[in-house]
Amino acid sequence: MRKFNVLMAIFSLLVVSTTSAQNKVVINVSAARDTINKNIYGHFAEHLGHCIYGGFYVGENNKKIPNKNGIRLDVIAALKKLKVPVLRWPGGCFADTYHWKDGIGPKTQRPSMLNIWWGNVKEDNSFGTNEFLNMCEVLGAEPYLSGNVGSGTPQELADWVKYTTHPAASSPMPELRAKYGRQNPWKVKFWGMGNEAWGCGGNMTAEHYADVYRQYATFMTDWSNSDRLYRIASGASDDDYHWTETLMQKLPTKMFDALGLHHYSVIDWNKKGSSTEFTESEYFTTMQRALQMEELVTKHSAIMDKYDPKKTKSLSVDEWGGWYDVVKGTKDAFLFQQNTMRDAMIAGTTLNTFNNHCDRVKMANLAQIINVLQAVILTNEEKLVLTPTYHVMEMYNVHQNAVMLPLQVTSNNYQFEGKSLPAVSASASKDKNGAIHISVTNIDASTPQKISINLGNIKISSSSAIILKSNKLQDYNSFDKPNNIIPTAFTDYKITNTDLEINLPPFSVTVIELK
Ligand code: AHR
Repeated sequence: MRKFNVLMAIFSLLVVSTTSAQNKVVINVSAARDTINKNIYGHFAEHLGHCIYGGFYVGENNKKIPNKNGIRLDVIAALKKLKVPVLRWPGGCFADTYHWKDGIGPKTQRPSMLNIWWGNVKEDNSFGTNEFLNMCEVLGAEPYLSGNVGSGTPQELADWVKYTTHPAASSPMPELRAKYGRQNPWKVKFWGMGNEAWGCGGNMTAEHYADVYRQYATFMTDWSNSDRLYRIASGASDDDYHWTETLMQKLPTKMFDALGLHHYSVIDWNKKGSSTEFTESEYFTTMQRALQMEELVTKHSAIMDKYDPKKTKSLSVDEWGGWYDVVKGTKDAFLFQQNTMRDAMIAGTTLNTFNNHCDRVKMANLAQIINVLQAVILTNEEKLVLTPTYHVMEMYNVHQNAVMLPLQVTSNNYQFEGKSLPAVSASASKDKNGAIHISVTNIDASTPQKISINLGNIKISSSSAIILKSNKLQDYNSFDKPNNIIPTAFTDYKITNTDLEINLPPFSVTVIELK
């Protein structure tokens, strides 16, 4: 028995030493300067698989699924809770094949088209510009329209701007809008100038795209009575720094407001792996890809800094998220995947990166909002499930429009088969009522992390915290068990004089509120 006790004592010492407080976060309140643009919490909806059809839109005549004007009421309620600030549409690759005039007017007269990127399915255009913009108004989200630069014309894009934003009776396009039931313009500030121009948007070189961009931008006229248009150039893929450099050099400063950036956390484009049945090795690689966002944002920003030191242009990470093989039995081209605790970890760490870079990153759009890739909602006929990613986005929405509090993280390593990643990531902000929110993640698959957060002079009278965690990394919310993973109250922390000491379980996301 004595021998056993001695062994236990040695074992506890070992455990304490691996979980001991090497993790340190220092918050520097006096250096707070930049606001976390709420649009960092943006989303993306493409005519792909069941994102639009079956996801948002089930048709006006659907008697089985409660809807208004064909838009699912359960989806609207869930997204309102999430506080979706901005929604990008209609693609993606689809955007550069989309001719918006096919999607307006009486539905029976709308021509159909072939959705060439996503399974060659018939697109009947029953969900078009009016449906999307009206839905954004119901959601309280700003629309972000992706223009067709790949196969459209400058005239077509200029007409779309007029149809959506110019005042009534000012020209033929607003007259057409009135004829189709909408007198006053919508508010459409964000315009994407094509999508992935280096790939599905036209396979252009950066140099050629810059010229094409200038041509299209010339004819997209502002209407002085409405908000100025905010034009987002199709941005780089991952670490294509040449793309960013070229656009910063060649786009006239008055002609653009932001550059895009796309980065997916994919293990290997030829072997993405299952969304639910993955090994720790696959988890580790996914997290490596997700944490790469820090480097990408830093390096693309540094290039932008050279040309725009005052940061008048922003970086819009308008596609990000995890990408795996489709769920067995679903169509390859529909990109339907499950969403586990691994996805919650991608979301938590990536949003921390965006918050911390909010001086340059002013918008980001998770790909994609419903039933596609790292979705926040999955639907199956009348059933709906909120994914772990939904819960992280909701937990983190306290950062929207709050002032970012700069912080420094010293982290233990999450080690796996000789490789290592920082286990802890964090970001913090102060909202307009003075409440401070700190979001912290521990990506380690098995080791809890004790973290000491130095609060400096912050005075605290009350505190609370919520956590998202589960027993297994592979856990998810299914249609049968929709509440398998939900946020719960977190109490494993204590506040001392200047420090907040917390114990984070493995693969968990926590948000602490201090008042
Ligand atoms: O989000 C799915 C696709 O990924 C988008 O259509 C495209 O822009 C990207 O390659």
